Amino acid sequence: MKLLSIETSCDETSFALINVDDTEVTIHAHNILSQVDVHQEYGGVFPSLAKREHARNAVPLLAKTLAEANLRAGETPRILQDVHEQITKLLEREEGLADELLAFLAKNPRPDIDAIAVTHGPGLEPTLWVGINLAKALSAVWQTPVIPVNHMEGHLASLLVDDPEQRATQKLLSFPFPAIALLVSGGHTELVLIKDWGEYTIIGRTVDDAVGEAFDKVARLLGLSYPGGPEVARLAAQARTETTESPFSLPRPMLNSGDLNFSFSGIKTAVRNGIENQRKKTSDGLLSDAHKQGIAREFEDAVVETLVTKAERACSEYGALSFLLAGGVAANRHLVSSLQVNNELPPVSVAPLLLTGDNALMIAVAGWLRANYDPSLILTNPSPIQAIGNLSLEERRITK
Ligand code: KG4
Ligand code: ZN
Repeated sequence: MKLLSIETSCDETSFALINVDDTEVTIHAHNILSQVDVHQEYGGVFPSLAKREHARNAVPLLAKTLAEANLRAGETPRILQDVHEQITKLLEREEGLADELLAFLAKNPRPDIDAIAVTHGPGLEPTLWVGINLAKALSAVWQTPVIPVNHMEGHLASLLVDDPEQRATQKLLSFPFPAIALLVSGGHTELVLIKDWGEYTIIGRTVDDAVGEAFDKVARLLGLSYPGGPEVARLAAQARTETTESPFSLPRPMLNSGDLNFSFSGIKTAVRNGIENQRKKTSDGLLSDAHKQGIAREFEDAVVETLVTKAERACSEYGALSFLLAGGVAANRHLVSSLQVNNELPPVSVAPLLLTGDNALMIAVAGWLRANYDPSLILTNPSPIQAIGNLSLEERRITK
């Protein structure tokens, strides 16, 4: 199945074009455009700005993706008046996008694809709509069905790709079920029981902040730039090499709660209080670099210890045959190595580094999974698809 995919759930605009079947995948093209620079001065993602950036970058990035994929071209479509009007209406809130897209489509042949996969939740609804409306517009012109994809299922699907840089055909990876997945991102921290693709039960989740969010907040407390996760990880790694200790220790909330849930806001508050106390002890009220490193290390240790402990418990309770790690925080080396050396866990698979953050390649693979386990999700009429900001992995609904 040949799929074009679109991801706009947060601050990455991304397109991919793949050909995938039960055993193999060929990545014809994959482009990710991050808006980190745009949002850095706000210290987080600013939804209306993110939406504007997606709309501005969508057509150039789509054009680049199709050109790179260089598939056998079909006919250049004649855009009938009613389709023209439909697209103008669909994209009326995205300034300039309708005209830009129509001009592009009128000049370029229809690519040889079977479906368009698009993220429709969870995420920021204003930005999700940009991708969804674009998918609907392309579907109208090319007469191509649309598969709505759950972003978190996308993170799971990233584990099926062995080497996202590889352009030659590669084997599609597989795992024995039941599997336990730990999904860790800026908005989610979930332990998921996977009985099969499409059969997900969330067996543990954060009761407050997501783990990536906690990394970002602690980074801010330490005066580091957004997104803070990689910065905190860098300081923590330095502290480990130089055996720098934190001036205070941090709690491991809910470690013995008896369930599979997490809490990270208490650790973050303890970091804030610890930093304030530490500042009072110095004449200039500033934290030394060594203290910053030590605190980053203690924070990372506290978070990783909680995640690993609950992961172990989940695997033993459900008799997991494989353990999967994905999402933005799966880029954290300390978390990855702590899971990999753990003897209590079944074989551990980690998403390839390039696919830990948000990307359209994982959305394409998830689109293919969905088409297989539930063909009713291949929509020849995509008009019912809506953005659902809080869509759960357990749901298959496409409207609010
Ligand atoms: O999955 P993702 O790219 O976006 C969401 O869907 O949320 O995850 C982004 C999150 C951010 O909070 C970022 O700080 C965190 O992943 N992150 C990290 C690392 N790299 C990214 N957290 C800890 N260590 C890292 N190396
Ligand atoms: Zn994500």
